[in-house]
Amino acid sequence: MTTIAQARAELEAKTPRSRRIAQDRSEILNSGLAANLEMPHPIFIERGEGAYVFDADGNRYIDTSVGFGLHMLGHAHPEIRRAIQSRAEDGWMFGIHTTAQMGLATLLHEASPCAQRVVFCNTGSEATMYAFRAARGFSGREKIALFDGFYHGAHDYGMWRTDASSPVDEPVAVPMGHGIPRALSDLVLLLPYRNRHAFDLIRRHRDELALVFVEGVQSSNPQSEAGEFLRELAQVCRDNGVLFGIDEVITGFRVAYGGAQARFDVVPDIATYGKVLGGGLPVGAITGKADVMNVFTGLAAERGVFSGGTFSGNPLTMEAGRAMLTHLRAHPDIYTRLEAAGARLANAVNGYCEANQIPAQMKHVGSMFHMFFQREPVNSMRDAVHVNVAAEKAFYLHALNQGVLVPGTQRAFLSAAHGETEIDRLIQVFQTSLGAVREEGIF
Ligand SMILES: Cc1ncc(COP(=O)(O)O)c(C=O)c1O
Repeated sequence: MTTIAQARAELEAKTPRSRRIAQDRSEILNSGLAANLEMPHPIFIERGEGAYVFDADGNRYIDTSVGFGLHMLGHAHPEIRRAIQSRAEDGWMFGIHTTAQMGLATLLHEASPCAQRVVFCNTGSEATMYAFRAARGFSGREKIALFDGFYHGAHDYGMWRTDASSPVDEPVAVPMGHGIPRALSDLVLLLPYRNRHAFDLIRRHRDELALVFVEGVQSSNPQSEAGEFLRELAQVCRDNGVLFGIDEVITGFRVAYGGAQARFDVVPDIATYGKVLGGGLPVGAITGKADVMNVFTGLAAERGVFSGGTFSGNPLTMEAGRAMLTHLRAHPDIYTRLEAAGARLANAVNGYCEANQIPAQMKHVGSMFHMFFQREPVNSMRDAVHVNVAAEKAFYLHALNQGVLVPGTQRAFLSAAHGETEIDRLIQVFQTSLGAVREEGIF
């Protein structure tokens, strides 16, 4: 059995160049790093190919991050590469509208059940920021309701987390980090996730609420039974005259080609996209019903809101996204296969934990995953209070040392490039890593 100390020493020995980069980097580059969880230094990726990434020292890893969920076809897919190369021949940024936009707009319009209209931007964060603005403009109200455990991007309106001491049924929002204006806390209503008290809170605050906004599947705790709650939530919002939005930045083109809307049979007023939509290049989009989306048609429009951006709808992203969606649409078998692969992986890991009485569990919806290192069931993030952080870190260290990369965000994904060989290997590595952590007495 490999101990944690041995795994760490082995990793250090095979990643000297990454260590040097980490040292040099700290002198110049101050942005945060969503690195692997437990390493003396982060590893730096040099290139990716299919289901694999290669670090600065040439080590190969099965990548379960796939660019934080965006490479549905794996890294450097030839059709997307060709689309990018061919676009680059003719120039790639013009600012003003180009002939390249209608292709991706049409594909998104057809795929997103609520998409009577489409607006492009550049990131998921930008998309959710615009969705909030559109809802505020359209409704004339200012409060946005978000769910305990959410992530909707990095802008100030989304930088809230739950005060752990607040009641489960009425969570209280506290800012995530410094720099978030206190005044903004008046504009957010935090709701309990998959908890019927959320419906009471919506009814109570209906006259103040511009939008109730929820992830199609929360990446912090992917729940396969999310659909019933979503459908009831949509109904409560309709009954109370409050706009309902689904954040499909992760779930769009992942949990189904039509996203969470198609998978769970629910149609919101507005939805936001990013990640897979751009074929691996920066993208965001807002889709929605025509009356709401009309606010984007210019400041002169009724209740018009500002939108725009130098890079929005740029041709390079449009062509990469078009190649991605065209391929996914033509190959629905990808979703069938990923569904089976995801279930096989989760069943093998959860079965191993049960058989060996290991207090850990893998939550998943299709090809998106999140591991929790506690015995108690996790139905929402409020249940994740017994996480054994030492065991979690040790597990990821062992996995990395055996050539499996799980990002520090703990959100893991499979892509169409992950075949049966890679799934077998993931199962083997996760099981031996769990076994090693248990043998060392950390659970
Ligand atoms: C559900 C959700 N919304 C929004 C975002 C923000 O997207 P981006 O990182 O492109 O700004 C993310 C990012 O992970 C996300 O998971």
